[in-house]
Amino acid sequence: MQGLRDKRVLITGGAGGIGAATAGRFLQEGARVVLLDCDDAALRRSERELPSLSGTIVADVSDAEAVESAFERLDDLEKGVDILINNAGITRHAKDHGDLDALSRDDFMDVYEVNVVGPYLMLQAAKPLLLAAHEQSGRASAVLNTSSIAGVKGIGSSVAYAASKGALNTMTMSLARGLAPEIRVNAVCPGFIGTRWFKDAMDEAAYQATVQAVEARTPLAAASGPDDIADAAIFFLTDASRHVTGELLLVDAGLHLGKSPVNR
Ligand code: NAI
Repeated sequence: MQGLRDKRVLITGGAGGIGAATAGRFLQEGARVVLLDCDDAALRRSERELPSLSGTIVADVSDAEAVESAFERLDDLEKGVDILINNAGITRHAKDHGDLDALSRDDFMDVYEVNVVGPYLMLQAAKPLLLAAHEQSGRASAVLNTSSIAGVKGIGSSVAYAASKGALNTMTMSLARGLAPEIRVNAVCPGFIGTRWFKDAMDEAAYQATVQAVEARTPLAAASGPDDIADAAIFFLTDASRHVTGELLLVDAGLHLGKSPVNR
């Protein structure tokens, strides 16, 4: 089975929790990894923590010109990209989904631009490189979108966020059909993941209470971490999933099932 050795991998939101964990895992497997992120300082930190990175690029995935010029700077990947991971994402926290004053039009547009339009712009720019990699390897290149349980169940940090991830899920299916057979497109849908995403939005006591609540509600009695998502990404991006495209995989320790009031 073909693994990840020497695969050329581009990860957006690569300086964040899930992106960095995925980068570290892919580097261990011998892949060549470039991180793209809009946070310059966080990228500098990633360069120190992951010295074997092939490169880092500062760009905003929702800005078409920035994405285009990012690809001009992709020296190491210039001849092809085997794997694109669309992982950059934002939210606006508004947990009471019945409070219709909690989100403005701008909140919706900001979230949508990064979580939905961003992956589309990245794929537009990356398509020639993904096709080139397919031509070189004779195998389908792979795109993985980091979506969310929010896009499947309508739960999560806000209505705008859940709606954006729902849109990303249907876009995953549309593009999987549209870009086959040269490119496979799948999505991983994490549940609660302990990254700065939640840590920044609440104090330590509230964060620990959330972790405990998640553990109490998941059949596997666990709050997932970035490494759990990185491991799922491995499956989608190796030959093990060569017949899988347009798939949405929940990786949430069973959170989406909830606990039944009558069954064990
Ligand atoms: P994070 O906040 O640690 O990482 C997100 C990264 O994306 C950051 O480094 C940020 O600078 C970057 N980013 C944000 N906007 C960007 C833009 N316009 N252009 C380029 N980079 C941008 O959060 P985390 O948890 O690692 O999230 C990664 C992905 O996982 C996101 O798409 C998020 O929606 C998704 N997710 C996270 C969950 C969680 O519980 N943490 C649960 C389900 C999904």
